Amino acid sequence: MGMTPTIAWQGDIDGRLELIDQTRLPAELCVLRLERVDDVIDAIRRLAVRGAPAIGVAAGYAIVLGVRERVPTDATTFRRACSEVAARVAAARPTAINLGWACGRLARRGEREPTLGALLAEARAIHAEDVALCRAMGENGAPLIPDRATVLTHCNTGRLATAGDGTALAVVFEAWRRGNRLRVIADETRPLLQGARLTAWELAAEGIPVDVATDGAAPALIARGEVDIVLVGADRIAANGDAANKIGTYALALACREHGVPMYVVAPSSSFDLSLPDGAHIPIEDRAADEVLTLGGQRIAPPAGVGARNPAFDVTPGRLLGGLVTDRGVIRPVTTENVKRVLG
Ligand code: MRU
Repeated sequence: MGMTPTIAWQGDIDGRLELIDQTRLPAELCVLRLERVDDVIDAIRRLAVRGAPAIGVAAGYAIVLGVRERVPTDATTFRRACSEVAARVAAARPTAINLGWACGRLARRGEREPTLGALLAEARAIHAEDVALCRAMGENGAPLIPDRATVLTHCNTGRLATAGDGTALAVVFEAWRRGNRLRVIADETRPLLQGARLTAWELAAEGIPVDVATDGAAPALIARGEVDIVLVGADRIAANGDAANKIGTYALALACREHGVPMYVVAPSSSFDLSLPDGAHIPIEDRAADEVLTLGGQRIAPPAGVGARNPAFDVTPGRLLGGLVTDRGVIRPVTTENVKRVLG
């Protein structure tokens, strides 16, 4: 990936947000330069910036831009602007809790300290913390990967999905740095192909051997004994450890349970929503039919008379998982008590 960061703030309170446009990868490495909150909301909605932690980091800066645009003249108008902008940004996508979590942090900081400088400091703190959370997840998870293992992963959970090394991919990167000559199978991740486009790109850039497989092939590869461990991320984890992640994750968990392959969800503490008792309460984003009915801009379904179902996420029951790898340690077995003990 060279030196281009996934997310960067350039300048001080008069600065701008720069994001790699992930919709253009791997064909082109384009950087979006954004100065308006609506442009960041649009980037989040169309997945130019994506992945739960990355969305949270971008949201912090989006609120700085949005409040700045409103030019508040006193503390009262500043506070009102801050809470309204935070609510708008939080509504950009429903499933990743990191988005609402970051917006809540900015709103509370703006309430306490109604200045743009304070908001920018909070956004920068979220950004820096995410780098550290990724490092800790990598260190906690790396020992779980057997030497020379084949790791199967889903969607993109790497440097493009966070401000640091990633969640599940941070574990892979850390194991590789420690000398584990593993290999990776990346599910292509229909319909938007985050695995084929983004995960394969990140791993190939590091020289880590990677094969892309269709999502439908993954359970068969698990059944054939070709997978030693499955590592995925999460967009929101409920208090009992049920985890929402990219559509297709649940099928992997069922296949792993059937064939005795360990599967771990790797997620930072910022992805837990302890206010929800279980995964049935996690809001799941339904996205546009066109994402399913077209591929690379070309219609692949009949031109008329065909609808589509496009839930972007599914929920994997915590009981199907070998554990939850977090920045605070590995939670296993996955139970409400153990989640509370590590994160409460
Ligand atoms: O729709 P996306 O691409 O934002 O979905 C991303 C995922 O599902 C990731 O697995 C998840 O955010 C966790 S890892 C950063």
